[in-house]
Parts: sequence; C-alpha cells; structure tokens
Amino acid sequence: MQMLDGDVVLILGGGSGLGLGVARHFISEGASVAIFEVSQTKLDALKAELGPDVLLFKGDVTSVDDLTACRQAIVDRWGRLTSLVGSQGIFDGQVPLRDVPVERVSSLFDELFHVNVLGYLLACRVFLDLLEASDGSVVLTSSVAAYAADGGGLMYTASKGAVLSAVRQLAIEFAPRVRVNGVAPGAIADSQLQGPKALGLDGVKQSDIPKEAMQEGFKRLALMPTLPTPLDYAPVYAFLASRHNKVVTGQTVLLEQGSLNRHMLSSAGVSGGIGTPLG
Ligand SMILES: NC(=O)c1ccc[n+]([C@@H]2O[C@H](COP(=O)([O-])OP(=O)(O)OC[C@H]3O[C@@H](n4cnc5c(N)ncnc54)[C@H](O)[C@@H]3O)[C@@H](O)[C@H]2O)c1
Repeated sequence: MQMLDGDVVLILGGGSGLGLGVARHFISEGASVAIFEVSQTKLDALKAELGPDVLLFKGDVTSVDDLTACRQAIVDRWGRLTSLVGSQGIFDGQVPLRDVPVERVSSLFDELFHVNVLGYLLACRVFLDLLEASDGSVVLTSSVAAYAADGGGLMYTASKGAVLSAVRQLAIEFAPRVRVNGVAPGAIADSQLQGPKALGLDGVKQSDIPKEAMQEGFKRLALMPTLPTPLDYAPVYAFLASRHNKVVTGQTVLLEQGSLNRHMLSSAGVSGGIGTPLG
C-alpha cells in the first residue's frame, strides 16, 4: 500500500521546479494527479514523460474561469478531489523598495500578491466543496522568506508571510472536514522561479544566479549543506496531503536545512565556554 493510493491531487504550478517534483513523487506514491500550469510550453514538454494518466491543464491561478474549468475537468475524469497543493509562484527580482520606481510599486504588489496569494485563496474557494466531500486536504507553499528577512525582496517576503497567515485562518474555517497546512522551503535546486513583469524582469529567473554561487552561499548558511531538490521536499507534502495525516492542521512546516539555527557564539569567535571543566 502506497501513501497516496486512491487519492486524486491537483497541483497548482506543477509545470516545473517544486510542483513538478511533488507531482512526480505523488505519482510514485499511487496518486492520480492533475497539474494546473500557466505555461503551455512546460505542459507540452511534460506530455511524453507523464502520459495520458496525468491531467495537464493550462490555466492561470488568478482566473476564476480557468480554475472552474479545471474543476470541471477533474470532476469529469475522476468525480472527486482529495488534495489541493499550491506551488505556483513568482518572485520580485529582490529589488529593494527604494529602487522600485514609485509609479510601479502598486503594479508590482498586485502582480506578486495575485499569483502568490490570491491564486491560492481562489483555488481554495473553487475546490472547497470537492475537498469537503472527500475529507481532503490543502497544502500551500510559503517560504523561509516568511520567517527571516532577505529570502527575497519586500513583495516576495510579504506575499509568503501572507500564505503563512492564510494557512492558519483557513485551517479554522475549513475544519473539521479539510486539513490545511503549509510548507516553507529554503532554497530549491532546479527552480525556474520567474521575475515580475511589473519591473520588466519576467525574462529573469532565480536560477540565473550562478549555481556555484548559490551552492556556496547555501553551504555557509545551512547545517545540511546539500542544496535540496524538489524531490527532497516532496515527501513532506505527501504526508501532509495524505489521509495518514490525522494530527496536523493550521501548521506550516519550515524546511530550511537548519539555516535559521545559526551559529551565534562560535561564529563571533566565542567558543569553548568560559573556563575549563573540572576533571
Ligand atoms: N526557488 C526557491 O528557492 C523557493 C524557496 C522557497 C519557496 N519557493 C516557492 O516554491 C514554489 C515553487 O517555486 P519554484 O522555485 O519551484 O519555481 P518554478 O517557477 O519552477 O515553479 C512555479 C510554477 O508556477 C507556475 N506559475 C507561475 N505563475 C502562474 C500562474 N499565474 N498560474 C499558474 N501557474 C503559474 C510557473 O510557470 C512555474 O511552472 C513557489 O511558490 C515559490 O515561491 C521557492
């Protein structure tokens, strides 16, 4: 018996990176999977690998019409949905607020919050009745950026903080039928996270940061020094999404490889305590 046998899961933003890793893992754990993705190019590239058993749906998470059409496609194919995983997102190019032209602050905010926050909330609303009917679950993606500064720029970190709060509120509103949790990853290898159109940075990806520099920086910060892949994060999503989770709701699991558990005294050159132990 596999962890997700018999489950039907929708993964938002499953065309690359984290969501795709989650999709691959969920399939290997026995789930029927639907991927909702804005990029037709990514969906076309996945057709051959994933085959006809996976529902590949082209849509924008900020569109109620697209989400509703996807809901219908899921009902037509499986008649039910047991889990919703939110993993779509864009980042803000890490541009400090002072460098954002003042006339673009609102459009930057709207773009980031529409995709990173509103998209999750709309999907929760559109799929709630199906999730309630199956005593299902929701798993949304926050970020280490919600817990510590400098994991992105202002709009990205604020949007990820909003996801953290939304998880808590939705868990109360959707109880007792539907469990709602979050996952807050640290760095992710193979991410395609795209910059914002509002700053003309939609052609820029987070992965454009040279891999070696990213790996080096990560090693300096994290207690577990290998940059995690989407597949490394996926089992946590699987547990939270599965019917085996009977105890966790309203929580966001912080998966930061120990990077926030910093060396304090030893990195300040204070080590060895204040004396020599007796004996
Ligand atoms: N990359 C990191 O280091 C990192 C760290 C922590 C959290 N995260 C979060 O993990 C999640 C996955 O990011 P990733 O790094 O795998 O990036 P990614 O770009 O590889 O994956 C995100 C997917 O969402 C899709 N998408 C974007 N806008 C969409 C929309 N409007 N409608 C539907 N799909 C849309 C993208 O096309 C892409 O396929 C995001 O929420 C991101 O904020 C990423």
